[in-house]
Amino acid sequence: MTELSRRTFIRQASALGACACCLGTVSLLESCSAPAGAAATANEKAIVETPGQISVLKSAVAGQTYLKLNTSKFKDPIFLNTNADGTYSAVLMNCTHKGCGLSASQGKLVCGCHGSEFDLAGQVLKGPAKTSLQTFQVTADDQHIIVRY
Ligand code: FES
Repeated sequence: MTELSRRTFIRQASALGACACCLGTVSLLESCSAPAGAAATANEKAIVETPGQISVLKSAVAGQTYLKLNTSKFKDPIFLNTNADGTYSAVLMNCTHKGCGLSASQGKLVCGCHGSEFDLAGQVLKGPAKTSLQTFQVTADDQHIIVRY
């Protein structure tokens, strides 16, 4: 298992387009537009990517609604959501209409290119997109959440 270097981690965190309240700390959590939750910081050991999966320490997402995970595989982040029942779901933040990146806004994933909207499970709420977002298997143990891709 290879841990992310501090440089790689910071680069990935920066690529998230983190809001101003997250800057100044190494954070993978975007909280400014989150439906609930406060800013939290993660360190380089909290998120580990290995071929085909990314592992997140649960303590890194405690109290947060979602986490955007950059991977080496996809140009857009994976949106890891904590569901109301305590389970997790993960979708690719890439619009199925023409491939633009999505942003999280008021409990939805929104495409700025042509206005498609998706729920946090990836289902289309509003077109022109007609296809659901790519989803990923998520498992969890006592300490980690693992997203497989
Ligand atoms: S690319 Fe997202 S709505 Fe067109």
